[in-house]
Amino acid sequence: MAYDTETARPDFARMTPADLDTGPVPCAPYISPDWFELERERVFGRAWLCMGRVEQLPEPNSFITREVEICKALVLITRDKDDNIRAFHNVCSHRLNMLVTESSGKRSIFNCRYHNWTYRNNGDCTGIPDIKNFFGVDKKQCGLTPIHCDVWQGFIFINLQAEPEVTLREFLGPYAEAYEGFPYPFADNAYVIESNLNVNWKQIADAFAESYHVAAIHPATIGNTFASKSLNPFGRPLSGHAYGAHRVMCTFGNPDYVPPEDAHVERLAYSGMDTGNVLGGSDSKKLQDLANHPAANPTKRPNWGADVSWIFPNFNIDYGPGGFWTHEFWPTSVNSTRWILRVHVPEATSVRERIMQEHLACRFAEVMLEDVTNTQAQQRAMESGAKTHMHLQDGEMLIRHSNAVIRKWVESGSAREALDLD
Ligand code: FES
Ligand SMILES: [Fe+2]
Repeated sequence: MAYDTETARPDFARMTPADLDTGPVPCAPYISPDWFELERERVFGRAWLCMGRVEQLPEPNSFITREVEICKALVLITRDKDDNIRAFHNVCSHRLNMLVTESSGKRSIFNCRYHNWTYRNNGDCTGIPDIKNFFGVDKKQCGLTPIHCDVWQGFIFINLQAEPEVTLREFLGPYAEAYEGFPYPFADNAYVIESNLNVNWKQIADAFAESYHVAAIHPATIGNTFASKSLNPFGRPLSGHAYGAHRVMCTFGNPDYVPPEDAHVERLAYSGMDTGNVLGGSDSKKLQDLANHPAANPTKRPNWGADVSWIFPNFNIDYGPGGFWTHEFWPTSVNSTRWILRVHVPEATSVRERIMQEHLACRFAEVMLEDVTNTQAQQRAMESGAKTHMHLQDGEMLIRHSNAVIRKWVESGSAREALDLD
C-alpha cells in the first residue's frame, strides 16, 4: 500500500496554530548568553519541570537526588512511609552543605556529613548535635526547605517558584486531558544513557523533534525504519498536534522493513517493526492498551513508527508499538547540556528477549551517537555567526512550535500570561 503523504498533511497542519507563522526562525536563542539568562528566569524558573517517575522511588523511604543546573537548584525527592512524594532543596540548614550526595537510595533519616545534623524524609530536622552551644536555635525552624512538587500519571514534577503561579494541571492543560489514563509499560525497568554535550539544550532537543533527518543522518540504523525509499523517502510525519505549550508528532514506520542480509545480529533479534529498530517487543496487554489509547497515533493510521511527544520545556516522552522512552535536556550553560535517555523495557524472560534488548541498547547507542556528533558540529557552525536564521519545513513544525512557546514565556510577564490563563 502506498503511503499517501498528501492525506497526512491536513492532520499535520492542525498542529500549526493560527498564530504560528511559516517564515525563517532566528537562531539567536541557541547562541545568545543574554537569551540564556532570560530562559533561566522566565522558562525554567517558572515552568513545572519533570524530575522522573514514581517508579524511581519504588518503596517507602526511597529517595532520589536531581540537579537543575540552570536554576542552580539541588533537589532531593523522597517517598515517606505513607507513600507521599515530596521535594526539598538538598541543602542542610546549618552551614548549607549539600545534604545527600548519592543519586538514589533508601533511607528515612538523612545525616549531613559535615556536623551530623539529621533530617527525616518529610523534611523535619530531627537532630542538632550539641544544640545547647547554639544561640536559641529552634529545631522546628530548621527543617529542609520544601520545593513545590506534584505527580501526574506517575511523572514527578517540581516548580521552583516560591509560590507557583499555575498548578501542574493548569500547566499541562490540554496535554493532560489527551493523555489521561495512558499506560506506561515497563515503567519500573529502564536502561539509561547520560552524557554532557557541547550544545545548546534546544539544539539537541530539536534533533529528537523531527524525522526529516533520519534518512540522511541514520542511513545504516533507523533511516529505513522511520522513512522508506519507496513509500516515504523524507520521513514525513503521519500527524502532529499542539496541546497548548506542549506538542506531539506521529512518525511513519516502514512496514516493509527487514534487516539487511549481512546484519546477522539484528536478524537474530528481529521480530517485527517494534523490535528490529524501535523497542524490545513484548506481547504485553499494556502495549495493546497503549496502541488503542486515543492519544497514541490519534489518526490510527497504519505504518505507525512512534509518537514524539514534548512536555514544555525540556521533557520528551516517546512511545510506539513496543513501549516508551524519555529524553531530558538540562541546560548547563548557553552551549552545554546534560542529556538523559531512559528506555523502558520489560525484564527479559528468555534468551531471545535478552538478545533483542541487547541489540536494542546497542542500536539506541549507535543512533544517539549519530545525532549527538552532528548537533555538536551544528552548534559550532551556528556560533560562527554566518547565518542568523534557519528554514524549517512542515515536518519540523515541533521545532517551530517549541521556539514560539519559549519566546512567549520569555516575553510574558507571568506564567499565567504565557499559558493564556488570564
Ligand atoms: S553543614 Fe550540615 S551539619 Fe553542618
Ligand atoms: Fe536522529
